[in-house]
Amino acid sequence: MTVSSSTLKLAPEAEARIDDLQRRYPTKAATLLPVLWEIQTQVGWLPQEWMAYAAARCEVPVSKVLGVVSFYTMFHQEQPGRHHVQVCRNISCTMLGAEAILACVREKLGVTNGGRTADGKFSLEEVECLAGCSWGPVVQINRTYHENMTPEKTAQLLDSLE
Ligand code: FES
Repeated sequence: MTVSSSTLKLAPEAEARIDDLQRRYPTKAATLLPVLWEIQTQVGWLPQEWMAYAAARCEVPVSKVLGVVSFYTMFHQEQPGRHHVQVCRNISCTMLGAEAILACVREKLGVTNGGRTADGKFSLEEVECLAGCSWGPVVQINRTYHENMTPEKTAQLLDSLE
């Protein structure tokens, strides 16, 4: 990756939070997750130049940043929709009906896993366990959990966001 990150800066408060963390951690590399989170909170996703910024800020190779970003579904390598819909497809939710939830979301939005609607309102991501197994099927939209979902409740929820 040859993208320059030298002109990028986060908001002063975010830069201050990172400075504070990096004073308290034994290595700058140990702050990679919160640095990425600060970037994503400000930018909305993690474009290549911002991943390069994180690599420089944390003194790690860009390949390390890519490895972390591609591992955690909470980090976005592409711009998500304003309503980012995550549907758990792990075992508990699948046994409780997650496939029907996914079918409902795919049909209503006209997108498949990783897709975004043309108007940028919605994006869909199939994810592994969202840690709400006892209340499945679980759908997460942005930072809000929706539990015990049915296709009908999912359709109503999506309609309410349009
Ligand atoms: S299996 Fe869906 S939240 Fe755990």
